[in-house]
Amino acid sequence: MKIVAGGASPLLASRLATLLKTELAKTTYREFPDGELYVKIEGIEEEDVIVVQSINTNNDLVQLLLIFDALTNRAESIVAVIPYMGYARQDKLFSEGEAISIRAVARLIESYADKVVTVNIHSKEAMGYFKKLIHLDAMPLLGKFYEGRSITMISPDLGSLERVRVAAAHAKCRFDYLEKTRLDEETVVIKPKELGVKNEDVVIVDDIISTGKTIAEAAKLVLEAGARSVECACVHAVLAKQALNRLYSAGVRRVVATDTVEKPISEISVAELIASALKS
Ligand code: R5P
Repeated sequence: MKIVAGGASPLLASRLATLLKTELAKTTYREFPDGELYVKIEGIEEEDVIVVQSINTNNDLVQLLLIFDALTNRAESIVAVIPYMGYARQDKLFSEGEAISIRAVARLIESYADKVVTVNIHSKEAMGYFKKLIHLDAMPLLGKFYEGRSITMISPDLGSLERVRVAAAHAKCRFDYLEKTRLDEETVVIKPKELGVKNEDVVIVDDIISTGKTIAEAAKLVLEAGARSVECACVHAVLAKQALNRLYSAGVRRVVATDTVEKPISEISVAELIASALKS
């Protein structure tokens, strides 16, 4: 068995290789002058292959497709580990005539992969488009990261409440939630609410930080409610459009994420979670 580290997930792939006592295949990734991608995978000979590649950008998706192609007639089987499944937020028709992006992505991936492993995909609807999916929850890891600290966890919206409940159970702390309305991709409004966080250290927990506007709005409310400090934690640090600056400007002291998307703030690894799923 070999692991192919996609260009988006080199660190996580090598952590998995160590845990699974497996070799990494030799890979070459290049970009042509016109922006097209080039992929070469060496040393695969009729064996099972685990491909590790998050989809955080369009190039990540195209590179994944080319990795699958490079494995044609060489891999006995392919397990696609896609720690961050991009395109999952367009998981239904919001208006007539739209593409259901995750349906297209699911069809593409499953036309090559024998199994797909992902972590905290955006929604149950998104999950429903896959037939061979193993879905993993990193919320217990976020919770354990804070275990022993006297904090209150806050979900920025009802959609994340169940996730935060799980994280808070592992952190052994109290939790509450806010109510968010999304007006468009870049505008969120969060209703003020009695939170009972006066002089508390608060950690806002979400699945994804994209623009950071959700957490920034939530942080302002929490600080206005008298919290002593506010940090935030997420599974997928997409961090689009100066998200970290936005968060620190809103008063967030620390931002922590897993390594599903590899960023300097990826302090928590999902490698063991994925490795044990692959072993079983
Ligand atoms: C939304 O349903 C998700 O759980 C996140 O709250 C959202 O994707 C965060 O986006 P942004 O960081 O752009 O506000």
